[in-house]
Amino acid sequence: MKLFLDTANLTEIRTMWETGILDGVTTNPTLVAQEGRVFEDVLKEICALGVPSVSAEVVATDKDGMLKEGRYLAALHPSIYVKCPMTPAGLGATKVLAAEGIRVNMTLVFSANQALLAAKVGATYVSPFIGRLDDHGEDGMALIRDIVLIYRNYRFPTQVLAASIRHPVHVLDAAKAGADIATLPYSVMEKLVHHPLTDIGLARFLKDWEKVPKPLRVPPSDR
Ligand code: G3P
Repeated sequence: MKLFLDTANLTEIRTMWETGILDGVTTNPTLVAQEGRVFEDVLKEICALGVPSVSAEVVATDKDGMLKEGRYLAALHPSIYVKCPMTPAGLGATKVLAAEGIRVNMTLVFSANQALLAAKVGATYVSPFIGRLDDHGEDGMALIRDIVLIYRNYRFPTQVLAASIRHPVHVLDAAKAGADIATLPYSVMEKLVHHPLTDIGLARFLKDWEKVPKPLRVPPSDR
C-alpha cells in the first residue's frame, strides 16, 4: 500500500520525504489555506523534492471552470494529479481530463455508488473520506471494503485512496481491506513509525554496548 501525506506544509513533507516512506502528497483547499502561501509555489516546491504524486484540487464548481483549472494545474508539473469533487460537473470534467491523459483524483466520496461513478469516468484515484463518515456515525472502513470489492468485480483500474484518516488503526484496517493508498496527516504518519518498545529496546542495546570491551588501536571508522 502506498502512503501519502495529507498536508501542504513543506517542513512536514521534507521531513517525511527524507525517511523514504513517502509515495505522494495530497492537498486540499483547507490545507493550502493553513499555509498562507501561493498555491502554485507550494505545489512546485513539493514536486521539486521528487514526490511522484501530488494532488492539487480545483475550486471551480462548474465543468468548464474545472477543466480550465485542471489543465492549468496539470501543466505545472508532471507529478500533479488533479482533484475534482464528486459532483455532476466534477464527473463530467473528470471524463474530459482523463481522456486528455490528465490523472484525476475524485474527492469528497462518501458512498460506494459514487466510487463506481468515479471509476466509470476514468478517475485514476478515488478518495473516500473515512474519518468524516465515522464522525457522522457511519462505518468509513466498510465503504473502503465495498469499493475494493466493486473495483475487483469489474477490474476497474481506479486506485482506492483512503482519505480523512484519523489514527493508525485506520491505516491498518485500510491496508487489510486492500486500499491501494492511504493519505495521512503528519501526526498519524509519525505514530506509524514509533513504538515505545522500540525506544526502550534501543536504549538497552546502546547501554549494554558500552560494556563491550573495545580494541585500543582500531580507528573508529573500522569498528
Ligand atoms: O484531503 C482530504 C481528506 O484527507 C481530509 O481529511 O481530516 O479533513 O476529514 P479531514
